[in-house]
This record gives sequence, C-alpha cells and structure tokens, in this order.
Amino acid sequence: MNAAAAIAFPAAAAPAASDSGCQRPAAASWLRAVSSIDDDLPDAFRQAMRRVASTVNVITICVGGEPMGITATAMSSISMDPPSLLVCINRTAAMHGRMEDVSHFRVNVLHRDQEQVAQIFADRKHQALRFADGWTVDCERPPRLVDAQASLLCRRIDHHRFGTHSIFIGQVEEVAVRDDVAPLVYINGRYGGAS
Ligand SMILES: Cc1cc2nc3c(=O)[nH]c(=O)nc-3n(C[C@H](O)[C@H](O)[C@H](O)COP(=O)(O)O)c2cc1C
Repeated sequence: MNAAAAIAFPAAAAPAASDSGCQRPAAASWLRAVSSIDDDLPDAFRQAMRRVASTVNVITICVGGEPMGITATAMSSISMDPPSLLVCINRTAAMHGRMEDVSHFRVNVLHRDQEQVAQIFADRKHQALRFADGWTVDCERPPRLVDAQASLLCRRIDHHRFGTHSIFIGQVEEVAVRDDVAPLVYINGRYGGAS
C-alpha cells in the first residue's frame, strides 16, 4: 500500500470551514504537512515513531542469581483495574528468552539525570557495568534502580509474540516514585527531559 495515499489529506477531504467560524488551513499547508512521507512504509513508520516522545525505562529481571536488564521505551500502562502495564522486548535481546520464564519483572522509569544508565543498558559492550552502581540487587526480586523516577514491580501474567518482539503483560504489585517529576525522554533519536 502507498503510505502517502493512506495518510494524506487531499484538499477535497480536508474538514470544511464550520458555521462556528473555524477556518480550515489552505490546501497547500495540508499538503506540505505530509510532504516528507514517502512510499516506503517501514521508513515512513520509523519517521512517524521518531516524532513520538517516550519515557525511557530499564526493564530488569533476575534469573538463577543473574541480574539482567534492557533499555526500553516500548512500555505502556494498560489498565488501573487491575493496575497493569506492558513492555515489548526484541527477540534478539539477551533477556528475551528469560522473560518467558520469570515470575516477576520490574520497570525502572529513568530520571532526566540517568541518561548514562540508558546508554549502558542499550549497549551490549557495557554489560559488565550494568548493575555496578545505584542498584539494589539481591535477586530475591528484580533489580531496582534506587533513584529511578519510578519503579514498578510486576507479576508477569502473560506474553504474546508478534513480529520481531514479544509483548509482556505485568500486573503491578509494588510502586515507588521519586518526588521530583523529571523523566528522561527519547524523541527523534535523542534524549531529553520533560517536566
Ligand atoms: C532509547 C532506546 C530505546 C529502546 N527501546 C527498546 C525497546 O522498547 N525494546 C527492545 O527490545 N529494545 C529496545 N532498545 C534496544 C535495546 O536496549 C538494546 O538492543 C540492548 O542492547 C538489548 O539488550 P542486550 O544487549 O542485553 O541484548 C532500545 C534502545 C534505545 C537506545
């Protein structure tokens, strides 16, 4: 399918001026708004996702006494009743297979001042550094980043494989939050802040 055709707003389909006096933008500006979308759907999708701001998290587990973690932006709350969330883990990630076995995982939402933690858990070269500093690691529970923006201990209750990733659903059992609200955010290939 042609991606541009799927999302473009031809002038004829643009919302008409309403009786309330709102004016729709001129046709030319609607077209300009989509001019960077090309016919390559995967690339268009990537470009769209670069425009989505996400908080940055480190998902942790402990298996056989070994702590494991991964930087992941693919995290979302699901419902308040029960309190639940999902994370998406690439099947090539070292901890993917282990995620299918564990009873619990933890979502450590990173603070603006923890960009280095994000980098360490996003690069296999830094594996030896991953839990060196700032973590509570007793392996009775998944590791907790002590100064995280938020920490959510989840019972892993379900998972689904889809494409290159698996979606893991967790029911939240414990929460800790840091008072100041200044999460680390990832947008357009860069880290930044939001507060
Ligand atoms: C900002 C950012 C967000 C990421 N989000 C995810 C994600 O949501 N899921 C995922 O599987 N990998 C994600 N990754 C990639 C993994 O962090 C990276 O491949 C990591 O090295 C995999 O862990 P491993 O080295 O232990 O295999 C992300 C990387 C970055 C830099």
